[in-house]
Amino acid sequence: MTTPNVDLTGKIPNNVGLSDDVKLRRALETWLPQYLEWWNDMGPSDFADKPVFLRTAVSVDPGGWAHYDYVKMPDYRWGIFLDPNAEAASIKCGDDAGAPAWTDVPGEHRNTLRRIIVTQADTEPASVEQQRMLGHIAPSLYDLRNLFQVNVEEGRHLWAMVYLLHKYFGRDGRDEADELLMRRSGDPDKPRILGAFNQPCDHWLSFFAFTMFTDRDGKYQLAALSESGFDPLARTTQFMLTEEAHHLFVGETGLDRIIKRSAELQRQDPNGDIRNQGGIDFDLIQRTINYWFTYSLDLFGGEISSNASTFFATGLKGRYREDQYTDHRAIEGSYRVPVVEAGKMVEQEVPLRNAMNEVLRDAYVSDCERALRKWNKTLEAAGSPTRLSLPSRRFHRHQGLYADHRFDPAGNPISQGEYEANLGRWLLVPEDNAYLLSIMKPCYEPGKFANWIAPPNKGIEGRPIEFEYVRLD
Ligand SMILES: [Fe+2]
Ligand SMILES: [Fe+2]
Repeated sequence: MTTPNVDLTGKIPNNVGLSDDVKLRRALETWLPQYLEWWNDMGPSDFADKPVFLRTAVSVDPGGWAHYDYVKMPDYRWGIFLDPNAEAASIKCGDDAGAPAWTDVPGEHRNTLRRIIVTQADTEPASVEQQRMLGHIAPSLYDLRNLFQVNVEEGRHLWAMVYLLHKYFGRDGRDEADELLMRRSGDPDKPRILGAFNQPCDHWLSFFAFTMFTDRDGKYQLAALSESGFDPLARTTQFMLTEEAHHLFVGETGLDRIIKRSAELQRQDPNGDIRNQGGIDFDLIQRTINYWFTYSLDLFGGEISSNASTFFATGLKGRYREDQYTDHRAIEGSYRVPVVEAGKMVEQEVPLRNAMNEVLRDAYVSDCERALRKWNKTLEAAGSPTRLSLPSRRFHRHQGLYADHRFDPAGNPISQGEYEANLGRWLLVPEDNAYLLSIMKPCYEPGKFANWIAPPNKGIEGRPIEFEYVRLD
């Protein structure tokens, strides 16, 4: 397959040959003003006229795909880019592993594929909506810029998915693309599809936890879809992953900087009282980790799932880095899933294919554990005795086997009463949000940072930390 060259001059920058596909180009050019209307209504509140030092995807070369410059967000060039993999692609997993990949949608998988794409697509505008007020309380211009970078790239991810819907799914696809602009995060009448994307993200502690844990689910979902036998989906998600890495960086380092600062404030205070110094105490950080990590675990779906089995068997969705496995059919293996039986945990052996959500969740959890080890090193280096941890994957779940039972953060079954009595100790609660909002005042002077967070180690794209990442005057 040949990939058309990058076209940066059209209304919609792309490397998918839009200028040669008049019908598709017209359809997307009709969707563009609707998208901009959504962005103006539901994208970052204010700041539309402020130049932001943003990266824009301008090619698909691994080394030079991004261009950095000041851009006003509504003028951002949301483009459509596919990984131009020159090799003939093959189906990576399932019954037909090794057969040529599909360049068009196979009729029998049409509805399933559309659902997979719409579900992924829906998360992109949802997160922009969740984060729309955060610019008003940014801890620095550096962080403000990172927020807006994440926002415009989630917008581009929506474009990437809408391209697939328009190009491959006819009228249904166009209708779905329209509906993606109509649902609203947290709206009881027309909510976003997945739970985590309807939760409020009122302050920067949640923003960093969201980009750490929820965007990281995105990474694993995109990685599994980049193993899809539907070649356009595989190549689209492959390119999205290059942008996603920065979102995860923002979350992981943002929390690390808060942890570092909290340890400093703890040392400074005569009684070791971080709140007394206007900082974020470690219990609150732990509750925030518990909250967003568990909502993000839900996004992987049921532990034992016939859908997951079908997606894998048909080659629509693979495992994380499918090429690290030798057996791509996974007919033989099994997986032991802890289930609740008469109030006790017992292990149930299920066919491996039915446990594919859990296999992906395992990869995700170990990646999160790696970040926790890093944060605990930061605590150790700062001389703090505190250690942070991930709660059990059974705790505070709304999807899957554990949703109908109650567990403590260690994963032990408990009663509803015990659960409710301890929620304020285990999860982010309204009083926490009130405290966080009381300390989060905007800090817009170049090179200055709010009291509750440490500066980063370095700036963006070789610029110094005190660089004017957003021009506010
Ligand atoms: Fe995204
Ligand atoms: Fe993201």
